[in-house]
Amino acid sequence: MEFTVKLTDAQSRVIIQKGCHTHLKDYMDFNGRVMVVSDDNIPDSLKEAVLSQFDGAILAEVPQGEKAKSFEVYGDLLANLLENGFSRKDFIIALGGGVVGDLAGFVASTYKRGCRFVSIPTSTLAQIDSSIGGKVAINMNGIKNCVGNFYHPEAVFVDTDTLKTLEKRHFYNGLVEALKAGCIRDAELFSLFKAHAEELDVNSPYLEEIITRSLLMKRDVVQQDEKEQNLRKILNFGHTIGHAIESLYNLKDYYHGECVANGMIMIEENEEIKKDLADILEKMRIPFVTDLDTDKCIEFMKNDKKASGSTIDIVKVDCIGQAYIEKTDIEEMRKYFGS
Ligand SMILES: NC(=O)c1ccc[n+]([C@@H]2O[C@H](COP(=O)([O-])OP(=O)(O)OC[C@H]3O[C@@H](n4cnc5c(N)ncnc54)[C@H](O)[C@@H]3O)[C@@H](O)[C@H]2O)c1
Ligand SMILES: [Zn+2]
Repeated sequence: MEFTVKLTDAQSRVIIQKGCHTHLKDYMDFNGRVMVVSDDNIPDSLKEAVLSQFDGAILAEVPQGEKAKSFEVYGDLLANLLENGFSRKDFIIALGGGVVGDLAGFVASTYKRGCRFVSIPTSTLAQIDSSIGGKVAINMNGIKNCVGNFYHPEAVFVDTDTLKTLEKRHFYNGLVEALKAGCIRDAELFSLFKAHAEELDVNSPYLEEIITRSLLMKRDVVQQDEKEQNLRKILNFGHTIGHAIESLYNLKDYYHGECVANGMIMIEENEEIKKDLADILEKMRIPFVTDLDTDKCIEFMKNDKKASGSTIDIVKVDCIGQAYIEKTDIEEMRKYFGS
């Protein structure tokens, strides 16, 4: 299946097809040189399958994990492009999870004021969430996504075959963003989780539908609010508390989706939905975080991008599929921590 994300100055084709990463030229014309950016933990077989399709393609490998979203690695990639004489008509292909996508996308957006950019997301998080929407960034002084841009890949190749080697914990971590998509805007997607959470794995007959529905939901929201002025904020369901938990644990111990999962349960006030969420997330082996330091979390929220003065925009879901934004006093957030 294929659809297009239509934006003011750009558009992204999203191709969702098993096996597509092995024959990219069947889908588009790569009339330029190719640099594949990947991390040193992505299996060689995946890298080889992509590189072998292009004469003279260069592989630029970055260290796995969040630390690659740094000025140093960013600078090294730019230097690599320059030394190899890449022009703005040449291609950067991101092959990896959300880290590689954010980093390679930011490089593509700034190299010679923007070169061609294609994405092959290989983690569930990247396939479900980060590969569309155009947010690209690196971190600075310990602050996540502090330096970035909006830059949309011209094509995104979503191939669930690439997920076979992804660790289980990362697999479920990414699926949390799909569950979030169901909660905020797609009740049928939520029902899929309710019915099949127990047996969801890389071979699940529902996986492609879950990814596709999540991407279509995000497309719909991003097309209406490209630069996150209003509607797009609903994508942050569970994220206000989630980000505070991430900061509390210094971005270690728990992954992003796991923190968001805990944030969704904590902020949910409808008891029935809260119970469903907890059941689904337990079946998806998501760890529950306990003994949170409320004072510290409140401090982190005061420094959150979504805070202004003493208030913060939070996303509420009283009815599955119908999220809304509510301005809340940050001190009142204590009630969600049970204090
Ligand atoms: N741009 C956006 O809209 C957006 C949205 C959400 C998250 N993000 C960003 O995404 C990042 C997190 O993404 P992530 O969870 O994919 O992390 P990640 O890119 O670090 O990938 C997780 C781990 O899985 C490994 N991996 C990925 N694909 C694999 C495969 N097919 N086989 C084996 N191993 C594989 C990676 O090497 C890494 O060790 C964060 O930096 C976050 O800020 C961006
Ligand atoms: Zn998220």
